[in-house]
Order: sequence, then structure tokens, then C-alpha cells
Amino acid sequence: MLKGRNLIDPMDFSLKELEEVFQLADSIIENPQQYSEVAKGKILATLFYEPSTRTRLSFEAAMLRLGGQVLGFSDANSSSVSKGESVADTIRTISCYADVAAMRHPKEGSAMVASIYSTIPVINAGDGGHQHPTQTLTDLLTIRRTKGDFTNNVIAICGDLKFGRTVHSLVKALSRYKNNKFLLVSPNELRIPDYIKKEVLEKNNIEFVELEKLEDAMQEADILYMTRVQKERFFNEDDYVRLKDRYILNKEMMDLAKKDMIVLHPLPRVNEISYEVDNDERAIYFQQAKYGMYVRMALMAKLMGVCE
Ligand code: NCD
Repeated sequence: MLKGRNLIDPMDFSLKELEEVFQLADSIIENPQQYSEVAKGKILATLFYEPSTRTRLSFEAAMLRLGGQVLGFSDANSSSVSKGESVADTIRTISCYADVAAMRHPKEGSAMVASIYSTIPVINAGDGGHQHPTQTLTDLLTIRRTKGDFTNNVIAICGDLKFGRTVHSLVKALSRYKNNKFLLVSPNELRIPDYIKKEVLEKNNIEFVELEKLEDAMQEADILYMTRVQKERFFNEDDYVRLKDRYILNKEMMDLAKKDMIVLHPLPRVNEISYEVDNDERAIYFQQAKYGMYVRMALMAKLMGVCE
């Protein structure tokens, strides 16, 4: 039962519960009209302490398309946070006004803290460099709808594996399915954190290799997940400038890949995928953004208990 629950970490839902969310998303995609009023009278609060375009607007579009309404802030400076209010107090107040809350915060663990004090479901929309479980729902729904299921794939993940929270959440989520292999492509400085390697990959006996060259992953990959270098998490501008253009996926590289490989990206893109790749039918990152809205519709409908 997902009614009243929070989504803070990708492992919060069982595989069966995830499947229920995906089935509802499929049903919404097939027949959006049938769901256009299920959340009538419900309110989503978006509490965004860190910049966002896609995630916030996708949550808001999702709620509006369910027939509900939205309120919130997209800049911590315009809220009482600038007066020194704690996350705990903000969420206790928001709980009085809304039925579900989506929170993005630069500090790891913030959504978890909010969920302790909240009386409404809290959805983690990104906590620092930690986790981003609704991007993972987006990624999983996209994989499910193109590849059929989550098993037997070679998944290449390229870019900033150290700070990229979408990467951490995706690896965690996919570690629960059988027979996948990861090709982790990053500069030495931006390798995936040790805790993911030890507690997720090694613990579950999942095959993985760490590579520095994207070319070395292109032929084997069934799924290529590109990410940008996370500028805002760097302490030193020079390091960012040195690393930011290390990987650029272009047409020549796409020529090395399987015909049915898919390219995903959580977006925003900076330089890591050249525009010429957008016309390749394997590049499905904008379709992925659309699936993100549908899966958030399904998620919120479940947490609010307005859909079976
Ligand atoms: C991601 C994020 O915020 O972590 N964006 C998103 O939600 N689609 C990825 C990123 O910012 O690079």
C-alpha cells in the first residue's frame, strides 16, 4: 500500500510496489483523460531550495494533469528560509496547507528530515549529491517501455559519477534486478563513491568495470546514461573547467554502438552530448523527460491514495 508513504530513497518501495507505479503510469499514458480529475481538490507543495527546471515543472505539470493544484517556492531566498527557518518547521507548516510535498535541497538528508516532521507524504526531488529517486522512476519507466524489463542489460554510465545523484539512485535501483552489468565511465577524480561500489555493487555480486574512455564502452552498451559534470558541487572552479568537457558523445561514437542501444540523460545537458546526436532515434532523452511527468502523476496518485 503506497497511500501516505514517503519516497526518499529508491529502495523505499518494494519491487512489487514499483511495478504498481509503472503499471499506473502505463495506464495514464494510454488514457490520460481518464485521470484528468482524480486529484481534484488536492494540492501539491513544491519546496525547491535549489535550482530546477524539469523536476519542479514536471511535478507541477503532473499535479495539474491529475486535476489538482500546486503551490510552493522555487528559490529559498523568497521563502522564510532566508529568515532562518528550519526544514522541520517549514514542512510542519506546509503539512497544514497541502496534501503532498516535493522537496529539493542542497543538503544530503534534508528530505529524510522533512519526512520525519511531515504529516503528508514527502517526495525527495534531489538532496545534494545524494539521491534523486523520482529521476530514477523516470529512468526506469523509460527503460521498461523501450527494453521491456530491467534485466540482462549492459548499462554504461558516463560523466560525473561522484556527485551525480541520479547516478547513485539509478545504480541502487537497478542492482535489484538480475543479470545486469555496469560500465562506469568517468575521469579518475569523478569515480562512483566507494559506498555504492561496496554496499551496492559488490554486496549484490554485480559485475562492473570502471573505465576512463567512453569509446571503450560504446560497443557493449545496451543503455548509455550520460550525465553532466555537477558544477555546483565543486569546491574549485579550475577543477570543474578541467573536467567539464572530458566526454562529448558525437555521431562517430554513436556509429560504434548497437543498433538498439538507447541514450538516456537526466538533463540538463551542457556539452556532453553534441546536438547532432539528437536526431539519432536511439537518443531518447526528451521522451524520457515526458515519461518523467507521467511517472510522477502515477507516484503522486498512489501516495495520495486517489488511484488503486
Ligand atoms: C538532475 C539533478 O537535478 O540531479 N536533473 C534533473 O533532475 N533532471 C541532473 C543534473 O542536474 O545534472
